[in-house]
Amino acid sequence: MKIARFSRIGFILAAAGSAVGLGNIWKFPYVTGEYGGGAFVLIYLITVILIGFSIMIAEMLIGYLGRRDGVTSFEELAPRNKNLWKLGGFQGLAGLFIMIFYSVVIGWIFHYVVTSLTHLPATVAEAEATFNTMLNSDVWTQLFYHTIAFIWITYVLTKGIKGGIEKLNMILMPTLMIILLGMFAYAVSLDTFSQAVSFMFTPDWSKIDSDAFVVAVGHAFFTLSLGMGAIMTYSASMEKGSNLVTNAFWVVFLDTTIAIIAGLMLFTFLYQYGAGPAKGPGLVFISLPAAFYEMGIIGNIFAVLFFIALAFAGLTSSVSLVEPMVQYFIDRFNFTRLKAAISMGLFFYLIGIIALLSNIDGYKEALTWGDKNFFDWVDYITAAIMLPLGGLVMAIFVGFVIEKSRVEAAVKPHLGFAFEIWYFSLRYITPIAMFIVMLSLMGVL
Ligand code: PHE
Repeated sequence: MKIARFSRIGFILAAAGSAVGLGNIWKFPYVTGEYGGGAFVLIYLITVILIGFSIMIAEMLIGYLGRRDGVTSFEELAPRNKNLWKLGGFQGLAGLFIMIFYSVVIGWIFHYVVTSLTHLPATVAEAEATFNTMLNSDVWTQLFYHTIAFIWITYVLTKGIKGGIEKLNMILMPTLMIILLGMFAYAVSLDTFSQAVSFMFTPDWSKIDSDAFVVAVGHAFFTLSLGMGAIMTYSASMEKGSNLVTNAFWVVFLDTTIAIIAGLMLFTFLYQYGAGPAKGPGLVFISLPAAFYEMGIIGNIFAVLFFIALAFAGLTSSVSLVEPMVQYFIDRFNFTRLKAAISMGLFFYLIGIIALLSNIDGYKEALTWGDKNFFDWVDYITAAIMLPLGGLVMAIFVGFVIEKSRVEAAVKPHLGFAFEIWYFSLRYITPIAMFIVMLSLMGVL
């Protein structure tokens, strides 16, 4: 069988497309706002550099050496206890779970692309009412756009690595970067830009408690797409002889830069035209549209472009969230790509409807357990538990299970003397740090 491989730039764009997602443009600014700015950003950046970059190389390595779907790669690379280690590959399921809410949010974004063309809310209060009406009572609008997201994502997946995923990323990623850079340039010219810079980069440690710490670390995983098998599955189609270290560097660099640019831009707009860095998940759907309104006509154009960029970021991440299980069914059960893509698509689409309903008045009560509804539970369990756990398994697998000689052969030529540092951090520093994070997430610490 001829295997389609990414080109070098195709791989970097696809992996960066996976990493740059709703996490960067929607989640990062609002959690930064919620936890008071600078100190939170610093913890996130340190985690990205010290832990994220190491695990990125490790996850790429498993895919690159294994060359198959995640389950088969784990199984083949484990010298013994294959049946146990292959469970590592089932992390791919986390991606399907994330899609349950991710697709609904992409639906909201589509809706905002369309409505921003003609109407922006004049005040934050109006924006809030508009958003809440959609969220809590408008089933049909949400269902309509969730369906479009499902169809688009599934269609791209049926086209495979080259004609689907690579092509999508080659078009959407540069467009997204141009839009964001253009809007960022405008933000830099405003006089509140320096206020945004000091908000994001002046650490105020009084705002940091163990909760903020855990959220910053968890977010570093989520935003880099680590611990789920997305990066691993893409890496199985990397060209032979690729430099894993520079590839990992580019993905981490692009993801982090885009998050910082998006954050600075949003905070500048909010300082200049709105009410400062508003808090909570409604930031881009509530505070931002009201700020765009204040800009005048250019605000309408910016709003549409912004939501298009956000939708593109979400779509390129979505295909990477579903592809691991698609690949699994192709490799292990001989599914055709069409059949695998449609069945995985239907899985997140149908359960996504339950997530959507769990925000709707009248259904909400039945779909809420404890302090969270179904939608929030899926978000919490995947980002807070499944991804860090997956990252931990990958670090241990590369650090202790795969023969060191194989790891060395693929990574040492590119890391040189730093190889031993990386290997040590994978074996000891990362597992210990992840373990602590998971304990505190589960409320043990
Ligand atoms: N990194 C993506 C984001 O920031 C989400 C994601 C997580 C994608 C895990 C793939 C795997 O939105």
